Amino acid sequence: MLITMFSSKPYDRLFFAPAAAPHEILYFEPHLTEKTVGLAAGSEVVCCFVNDVLSEPVLRQLKELGVRLVAMRCAGYNNVDLPAAKQLGLPVCRVPEYSPHAVAEHAVGLILALNRNIHRAHNRIREHDYSLNGLMGFDLYGKTVGVIGAGRIGRAFIDIMLGFGCEVLVHDVDVVDPALASRVRYTALAELWPACDIISLHCPLTPATHHLIDGEALAQMKQGVMLINTSRGGLVDTPAVIRGLKNGQVGYLGLDVYEEEADLFFEDLSNQVVQDDVFARLTTFPNVIVTGHQAFFTREALAKIAQVTLANINAFAAGAIHDMTLVG
Ligand code: NAI
Repeated sequence: MLITMFSSKPYDRLFFAPAAAPHEILYFEPHLTEKTVGLAAGSEVVCCFVNDVLSEPVLRQLKELGVRLVAMRCAGYNNVDLPAAKQLGLPVCRVPEYSPHAVAEHAVGLILALNRNIHRAHNRIREHDYSLNGLMGFDLYGKTVGVIGAGRIGRAFIDIMLGFGCEVLVHDVDVVDPALASRVRYTALAELWPACDIISLHCPLTPATHHLIDGEALAQMKQGVMLINTSRGGLVDTPAVIRGLKNGQVGYLGLDVYEEEADLFFEDLSNQVVQDDVFARLTTFPNVIVTGHQAFFTREALAKIAQVTLANINAFAAGAIHDMTLVG
């Protein structure tokens, strides 16, 4: 089958190319949008990533071009209009799990760096400034950590935080898991917000979780709380968090995702003027660390993404995928 890969980077090719046969992959750097959809002409499969636009008009055009499968090479699918895909009879598959550890470990990396000011210490040492003023952290041992969404990544994250000796509070809409409940405390959000020193988001972006962290939620949190978002940018109302950072309500912010990241992340924009004033403000705080959607970016995760995506395409080629069953 001919596969058009959108938003592709050299590292995608590194893992997909050796395993692609008998399929042929055309690698394109641009995101899939209404403007670039024509690149898929002649392909039966499009392979897409987190910032590709799979809206109804784009899906309709893909269908008209003869595309028969949308193979997402990521876990999240909030950028896919699933009802439209279903109506068009266009199956969508994804990689539900590649390395929950990669994302969980990155979230912990953000916590450690923010707490112990490792980003600032690194810069000071390079300037031969060996002073410690302003670098004081806190022991993670004994602190209370809130986890929103105890799925695959949330659980990997919980295991690590329990290893630090933290108390873990969990909020999830799924049924209580007795095995997990013996090690953590399930709570409602109203109880979780004021109790936690650190809050880490591991739920998907849905209408129910859009701007979960807004001014109202922030007002209920501990003064100086640490917020970590490695899930999806839309979970956080960024201007509200900036207000919280300015007045000290938010003591630390670690982001791997940003609501308007599609125009920024995964590209080298170092010769351009950033047009997003909200994002630009975020980068001015000493107690904010932003990484560019790299939490998934480990060798193990990329190998698994290529392996599962190609297995999905093989299954489709063999007639085993007819509907939306792989999504969800
Ligand atoms: P999962 O599906 O295993 O777990 C999600 C959990 O969130 C489930 O337990 C679910 O019940 C819970 N949940 C759903 N709605 C909720 C709500 N309203 N409130 C509280 N909990 C809710 O997903 P997984 O694999 O753990 O991934 C979580 C998210 O991480 C993905 O949706 C994706 O957005 C993000 N992600 C980020 C990556 C990165 O590189 N930064 C890479 C991979 C995933």
